[in-house]
Amino acid sequence: MQTVTTIAEVRSAVAAWHAAGARVAFVPTMGNLHAGHIHLVSEARKRADLVVASIFVNPLQFGQGEDFAAYPRTLAADQEKLTAAGCDLLFAPGEREMYPLGRDGLSFVEVPGLSDILCGAFRPGHFRGVATVVSKLFNIVRPDVALFGEKDYQQLLVIRLMVRDLDMDLEIVGVPTVREADGLAMSSRNGYLQTGERQPATELYATLQALAAQIRGGVRDYAALEAAATAHLEQAGFRPDYVSVRRAEDLGLPQMNDRRLVALAAARLGKTRLIDNLLIDLD
Ligand code: PAF
Repeated sequence: MQTVTTIAEVRSAVAAWHAAGARVAFVPTMGNLHAGHIHLVSEARKRADLVVASIFVNPLQFGQGEDFAAYPRTLAADQEKLTAAGCDLLFAPGEREMYPLGRDGLSFVEVPGLSDILCGAFRPGHFRGVATVVSKLFNIVRPDVALFGEKDYQQLLVIRLMVRDLDMDLEIVGVPTVREADGLAMSSRNGYLQTGERQPATELYATLQALAAQIRGGVRDYAALEAAATAHLEQAGFRPDYVSVRRAEDLGLPQMNDRRLVALAAARLGKTRLIDNLLIDLD
């Protein structure tokens, strides 16, 4: 695998591949790669001739007081994992390459509505930062297909909407969440969990599973289910931002006849903010 740090280098590599008729897949990441990211690369391999990954800890998607400075940067280990997974090209730019004029006064991409609810309500500006960097990366890499983990379900829908609204010419593929044996969703932020928090962390997914089981069993009072799940998480030591049952398609509030739902939660355990979700198909 070749690693490049400039936009010009990625463009010339991908242009040559496209000129030779190859289909190119793209896996954007912020690094500190785990099995979930590697699964994205494996899925990318199945869908294209060549795979590009990126590692860029994007300052625009972190709010004040969030973990931008602390976010783990593990380039050498990430390169080894990507090489083993069969990635062909890694784009690992510095901040100056991505934002040569600095972070302020930049043009940005905003997906209104969907960006302002759930995680967006607790992390103002987060999805604007994601949409902006992902559109820049799409313009730089020009992939035929890009893959995103369903663990960041709201992010996946924001990107799908952005691609649809702005007529971006690529396919977006959502890939199911990879979990630890005890159910905890793989996340770079799991590394922040202290001893004594790792076991309670499993309660996030367990709570969503219990909530989903009630819905599958016919319970339709979503507000009561959300309140019970929130109370359960609090008892387990979390400080929940939200637990919410939504329409899977657009994260709208579900109506009685909606059959594809998603239960989503975000909660803090100590200093770690964890998110997770569970798709519920009633058909
Ligand atoms: O999911 C992530 O790791 C990031 O939000 C992304 C999509 C790479 C944009 O910085």
